[in-house]
Amino acid sequence: MYDVAKIRADFPILNRHVNGRPLVYLDNGASAQKPEAVIEAMNRVYREEYANVHRGLHTLSTLATEAYESVRAKLARFLGASEEEIVFTTGSTEGINLVSYAWAAPRLQAGDEIVLSVLEHHANIVPWHFLRERQGVVLKWVECDANGDLDPQAVLAAIGPRTKLVAVTHMSNVTGTVVDVATICKGAREKGVAVLVDGSQAAVHMPVNMAEIGADFYAVTGHKLYGPSGSGAIFIRRERMEQMRPFLGGGDMIREVTRDAITWNDPPMKFEAGTPGIVQQIGLGVALDYLQSLGMENVAAHERSLRDYARARLGGLNWLNVQGNSAGKGAIFSFTMQGAAHAHDISTILDKRGIAVRAGTHCAMPLLQHFGVGATCRASFGLYNTKDEVDALVSALEFARELFG
Ligand code: ALA
Repeated sequence: MYDVAKIRADFPILNRHVNGRPLVYLDNGASAQKPEAVIEAMNRVYREEYANVHRGLHTLSTLATEAYESVRAKLARFLGASEEEIVFTTGSTEGINLVSYAWAAPRLQAGDEIVLSVLEHHANIVPWHFLRERQGVVLKWVECDANGDLDPQAVLAAIGPRTKLVAVTHMSNVTGTVVDVATICKGAREKGVAVLVDGSQAAVHMPVNMAEIGADFYAVTGHKLYGPSGSGAIFIRRERMEQMRPFLGGGDMIREVTRDAITWNDPPMKFEAGTPGIVQQIGLGVALDYLQSLGMENVAAHERSLRDYARARLGGLNWLNVQGNSAGKGAIFSFTMQGAAHAHDISTILDKRGIAVRAGTHCAMPLLQHFGVGATCRASFGLYNTKDEVDALVSALEFARELFG
């Protein structure tokens, strides 16, 4: 049984008050809170077994290396992949930039195309703009519908003879839209086109399996997965790894360096230069253990019930416009209030009641342009949120409405 009260007790920060009110944390899309087990494990590593990894034969270095490398195996299990296909990163942004620099930049010529959806986060837009600016790559955009849904056939129809890559999110960080990435990957593969999936949000809210999805690249970020900031990984299909040049140069990613030549370490190490986020990744491993102890199916079911409840309650506010409200979406709601109230003002009023939401453009300006809004408030739910917190949000919004007339 999914015991949300017991789960909440695992997250120390949820006990605190903000502005005299119990914290209602609805900014999980930006970053999730950390369970005690993660905080404690990182503390313990620093106190008891910290050293650099892959570089020493002494006891502490061996302990740290084993703990660090065990996270690659945990990530592989979590994503349904093999260890050799997991590259550690500082988060999805680094993972996507890695693919842009090491795989796409040397392969794409002027006039080649990358197909993107309008749902993308800037992390899955800007690295492709670099290629547009620097080497004349063409970006082709696919729109979502009024509900925020993205038709996978429209994405496949955008693929032309010059398309080399499709870059698409698995779940929008603004609307919660879940994209049928398996259909996109299957269709793109039949046309010989690679697919990068931004899994930053989806992997947090539902089970994901690389064998079922069939992506070439799948990026995840640790800080949204209830792990530390600065942790994360990208899954890269083996055949794509073999096509990639190194990314950052430095220690660990080389086999041999002489004055005149260098040879590379085998992948995935070929893409990991310098001292990594040792303790962060170890913390991420503990967060993955925590998620798996709850069961991602159970997390997803809990969040579906929150989504349905929030949809019904927010739907009762006829002065609130929810942007993108598709049936199968994740528990993420972006909204604007009819009238003059700006998203930043609403968010400030909610904060006075202890409620944390994000306000602004959510690193997704093309999507806000698509919806014709300048800024929205976003309430994004996580595994520890409750229906009482939905009620607190609704009552604070009603208060804000009264205030702004
Ligand atoms: N990508 C994060 C968000 O959606 C920062 O808020």
